[in-house]
Amino acid sequence: SQEEVARLLDGDGGGDVAIAAVNGPRSVVVSGAESAVEAVRATFHDRGSRTKRLRVSHAFHSPLMEPMLAEYTTVAAGVTYRTPTVTAVSTLTGEVLGNGDWTTPTYWIEQVRRPVRFHDALTTVTGPQGAVRLLEIGPDPVLTALAREAGHAAVATLRGGQPEPQAVLTAVADLYVRGADVRWAPLFEGTGARRVDLPTYAFCRERYWLPDHAVAEGGTETGPDGVEARFWDLVERGEVDALAERLGVSGDEALDTLVPALSAWRRQGRRELEQAARRYRVRWRPARLDADPAALPGRWLVATADPAGEDIAAALHQAGAEVDLIPVAATDTRADLADRIRATGHEPTHALVLVPSPGAVLALWQALSDSAPAARLWCATRSAQSVGAGDTPARPDEAAVWGLGRTLALEQPDRWGGLLDLSAHPHADEPQRLARLLAAPGDEDQLALRPTGVLAARLVRDTGASGQPAAPGGQPHSTRFHGTALVTGGTGALGRHIAHWLVDQGIEHVVLVSRRGADAPGAQELRDELSARDADVTLAACDVADRTALAGLLDTHPPTVVVHAAGILDDGLAADLTPERLARVLAAKAGAARHLHELTADRDLDAFVLFSSTAGVTGNAGQAAYSAANAHLDALAQHRRALGLPATSVAWGPWAGDGMAADPVVTTHLARLGIRPLTPDTALDALGRILDDDRTCATVLDADWARFAETTAYARHGSLLRELTAPAQQNARAAQGPEHATAGGGELATALHGRAPAERERFVLAHVRATVAEVLGHSSAAACRGVLGALGGAGVLLGGRGEFAQE
Ligand SMILES: NC(=O)c1ccc[n+]([C@@H]2O[C@H](COP(=O)([O-])OP(=O)(O)OC[C@H]3O[C@@H](n4cnc5c(N)ncnc54)[C@H](OP(=O)(O)O)[C@@H]3O)[C@@H](O)[C@H]2O)c1
Repeated sequence: SQEEVARLLDGDGGGDVAIAAVNGPRSVVVSGAESAVEAVRATFHDRGSRTKRLRVSHAFHSPLMEPMLAEYTTVAAGVTYRTPTVTAVSTLTGEVLGNGDWTTPTYWIEQVRRPVRFHDALTTVTGPQGAVRLLEIGPDPVLTALAREAGHAAVATLRGGQPEPQAVLTAVADLYVRGADVRWAPLFEGTGARRVDLPTYAFCRERYWLPDHAVAEGGTETGPDGVEARFWDLVERGEVDALAERLGVSGDEALDTLVPALSAWRRQGRRELEQAARRYRVRWRPARLDADPAALPGRWLVATADPAGEDIAAALHQAGAEVDLIPVAATDTRADLADRIRATGHEPTHALVLVPSPGAVLALWQALSDSAPAARLWCATRSAQSVGAGDTPARPDEAAVWGLGRTLALEQPDRWGGLLDLSAHPHADEPQRLARLLAAPGDEDQLALRPTGVLAARLVRDTGASGQPAAPGGQPHSTRFHGTALVTGGTGALGRHIAHWLVDQGIEHVVLVSRRGADAPGAQELRDELSARDADVTLAACDVADRTALAGLLDTHPPTVVVHAAGILDDGLAADLTPERLARVLAAKAGAARHLHELTADRDLDAFVLFSSTAGVTGNAGQAAYSAANAHLDALAQHRRALGLPATSVAWGPWAGDGMAADPVVTTHLARLGIRPLTPDTALDALGRILDDDRTCATVLDADWARFAETTAYARHGSLLRELTAPAQQNARAAQGPEHATAGGGELATALHGRAPAERERFVLAHVRATVAEVLGHSSAAACRGVLGALGGAGVLLGGRGEFAQE
């Protein structure tokens, strides 16, 4: 205590050591000549007190300060003082400032020489002054720790080693949850953030808390009682004293240096784990087909532009099916094909289409819905997928059929069969193997037939370059570029972030390409921002789907790095898509990518990055054209790699902020599914790592698969996501009880069985309302009465409920 220390100092005659601060009833700082201070320390140490040596530049508040007082007095006398406008408490007196206290040089001289009475000041602030929350404004949370030790609610604005915006925002949030009144408007100004209504009624057991991002999936902090988590929390907060106490060491200087380093290491490790948890890749596993295929049932329509089609039709027939064969050309329309199907005189139960273009597949899909709506469609491509090293897609264009098909599967699962990729060079027994496979696909719907066997596509976590999950403490990514980067879509929402990121990586000249060029909204501001960072900026107006125009641009600005982020959306159900709409979406993204590939093939590029989308990998109801375009990009990257050219295609999940995923209806829907938007910083950090790891294709998505499985339990899940969703889905069903043991089709039918007609209608209406409510994110069916007519873009999402519609 202060008294004990004072007694000791008085006994020694004081000399050149003094009390410098009284921080608490049992916490006193002594300052002065080193040997004298060490003697005091030794005495108290021997008495069993905890002591700690502070690292400071001078013996502040001790007699050793006296030589500087004369000069300090002169300086202090020259300063103009003003009376404070808010109440202040003095650490010199421990009392509220008296009139004139702070405005005299004497006060400040005393401040240098006399002890800091922090404990008294704190007692005054929290006692008579009535403060209930304390905010420390200073470079490190020193006083916060002291105030918390004394049992007060204290928050620090800054923390060594933590980015300032993060530290300040954490402090604001901390104060807010402790009841402080925060003016939020200035914080969100210009960000597009808006208020949303939360229910005013009781919460009906719904969860409204934001999901916890703090711990990446697979984190290791869930010790039995969270002891470890709390320890690391102290490390991250840099709370040295609390740590010292926990570790049972006293006055350990090593902790002062070690804790900030550990804190930085810890944060870096956390980032690595979070990044690893968001990265996925498609892997091909041996398919789990039915072991003993029966005869191929049903009547099959084989629609083909491939000469092998006839052999395949014959093999299906041999396997037991009735077969009709029709030719398909890329120019055939929906009506042409519907007529051709009707002309067979039969209504098929299945269809197999072998045509390379997504346009022809779409036309056939629509024609089947007009002429044979019960038929399940299988689409075959040839060498559009890479099932592993050494198996490269020779025909990346055909991969667009995969993107399209994945979306058709989601929109109308009852009309969907599956996707099948054949080898680049057909073996003699291919037709028979194909027929066997179609007779017994099990529940696989994305397959590749190779000489070595049948493989099935699975989206799996990408465990990083080494094949191991990224470990805490890994190095930050190290990609560096130089020269000129050509960014298509460079004036779009993501283009802005990409351009800044490229400059961060060392690019000196960015060529930002879009059709509107310098006239694009925000283009001039972006140019100014980048120029202010000493980058050369060219805003180029060019339609990248126009090969000649693009060639001219590449000649004028030869790039060292290409980033293709141009693209357009044209959402709507595949049933309503026209060939022109499909072609437009494909041209801006897939067509342009092909041009970029061909026109730069003989150039020495450091990177060729394609901005693809998860819509291409998983499909997305309402985005058949967009899915097709993106799937092409992924295969093109693989194709380029096989040619020895640089290529990286990143299939992004939705990004936060502006851009293609910014529609609030879409984001609400995604949130319900457990898909969280990626912040631009996170996404670009991931991009850097993907380039470092030299990946050809990567999917970056922030998904909560348990939630995804739970909210989509109504639907038949394709085989692609099985490894991610199956465990969670089983849990969800088990939790619902035996009456829900089978998800999807039939539940409504079962519920309707035995009801009177009038009751059925009411029941169906309630079911429709409940589904609409779920899609729109309303908490109850009553909340969306009347919205069906005004659905707009959300109607597309409902289209994704194919299973529901069929029921
Ligand atoms: N935002 C997301 O959440 C997200 C998620 C996954 C993938 N992606 C992909 O990332 C890329 C950028 O997305 P974004 O959100 O930034 O979209 P955005 O804001 O709509 O930007 C798209 C850009 O592409 C340009 N563009 C379109 N067609 C073009 C053409 N034919 N020739 C030249 N430029 C053309 C547009 O400018 P003009 O209209 O002036 O031509 C615009 O600058 C897209 O390829 C998208 O598929 C985005």
